[in-house]
This record gives sequence, C-alpha cells and structure tokens, in this order.
Amino acid sequence: YNYTDTIEYLLDWYDNNARILPWRENPKPYYVWISEIMLQQTRVEAVKIYFDRFINTLPDIKSLAYAKEEQLLKLWEGLGYYNRVRNLGKAARIILEEYNGELPPDYSSLLKLPGIGSYTAGAIASIAFQIPEPAVDGNVLRVMKRVAGSFDDITKASIKKELEQDIREIIPKERPGDFNQAIMELGATVCIPNGKPICMKCPIMHLCKAYHNKTEMSIPVKQDK
Ligand code: ADE
Repeated sequence: YNYTDTIEYLLDWYDNNARILPWRENPKPYYVWISEIMLQQTRVEAVKIYFDRFINTLPDIKSLAYAKEEQLLKLWEGLGYYNRVRNLGKAARIILEEYNGELPPDYSSLLKLPGIGSYTAGAIASIAFQIPEPAVDGNVLRVMKRVAGSFDDITKASIKKELEQDIREIIPKERPGDFNQAIMELGATVCIPNGKPICMKCPIMHLCKAYHNKTEMSIPVKQDK
C-alpha cells in the first residue's frame, strides 16, 4: 500500500475537522501527557472536565510529584483504572529527580517512565516535541488495517509492532503529532469501531481498500480467545 496521497488527505481533513481541545490549544508536554493518560480508557468529551480540574489543581510536574496519593485519587475519581494516576505521581517524581522536572524530549526515555508504553511515548514525542514516532492505539490499528484492506489479527503484539515500524517510515517529519492525531480523530468520529463506519464522511474513502472491497465491517480482525 502506498500512503503518499493518504497522508495529504488526512492532514487536510484534520486541518478542517480537528476538535478544539484544551490540550491541543496549548500542547505543553505536561498537558499532552496528562490528557493522553486520561484518554486511554475514557472518551474525549468526558475527559475535558477532568483534565481542566487536574491541571488547575496540579499545574506542573513539581506539584504532581508532591501531591498526596489521596489527592490524586480524588482528582481521578470516576475515571477508573487508578493505577494510571498512581503512575503519574511516580513518574513525576522520577522526572523531578532525573530530568530537572521536564519531560524528556525523546521516545526511549519516555518509554522507561512508569505508566508510559509505546502508545503514550509516541503520543508525547510526536504531539509535544514534533518527533516522528507512531502512537498506535486501537483506533489507529483499526483505521490503518481498513485502509490497507488487511485481515491481520490486531490482538497480536507482533502486528502492532509491525504497524509501528511501518508508520515510522511514512510519518511526515513536519507534522508527526498532527498525523497521529488525524488518524485517532478519524477513528473516533468516522472510521468508528461499533456498527457501520461513516465512509461517506471519510477523506480517504477513495483510497481505502476495505471500502473498495466492502470489507470495512470485517476489519479489524480480532482473533483472540
Ligand atoms: N485519543 C487519545 N488521544 C487523543 C488525541 N490526542 N486526540 C483525540 N483523541 C485521542
């Protein structure tokens, strides 16, 4: 599959359709980090209010590092998966000790921090630091497998690794964060997971193998169990 045109259409669509979100208006590394952790299991609309309260209460990494667990849990109450916020505190203390209180601007250092896996490391690297790294989550796997018309089993770790490697080769160096967010945004609003994707609203419908083959409902394959 040749992605050259796909990337242009995607970025163009993103320029005209990206939602205005607090962490997009001011993509400070700290804001990108907090929002991406919140967004891992929670939808954008629900995250907004938690995000605003969180950064108003703990405006920087130092305040996060010193916050009591009790306060962190209170700020996270309702979001669930409370290890996420415990890891935020742990990582903040490491960042204070080892990186002078600033998130390190490189993928492999980010990846070593508690609670930061390949998705989050790539999201922070690309959105906050304009480093051309992939940020592959379920949305990105679904969109990319549909575009390529691929029946790969996306529950396999090897398939995700392979996609990350493929994206490294095509990600636009000038706009890596916008590229990653464009695919996420498309996956969240158009190339949706449950029910029928809204292909008529898709900027890359004409380049999509799954649309062409009418296999969009059968992709992605989740073999599993
Ligand atoms: N889901 C996870 N991260 C996101 C982002 N940066 N924009 C939109 N949806 C997301």
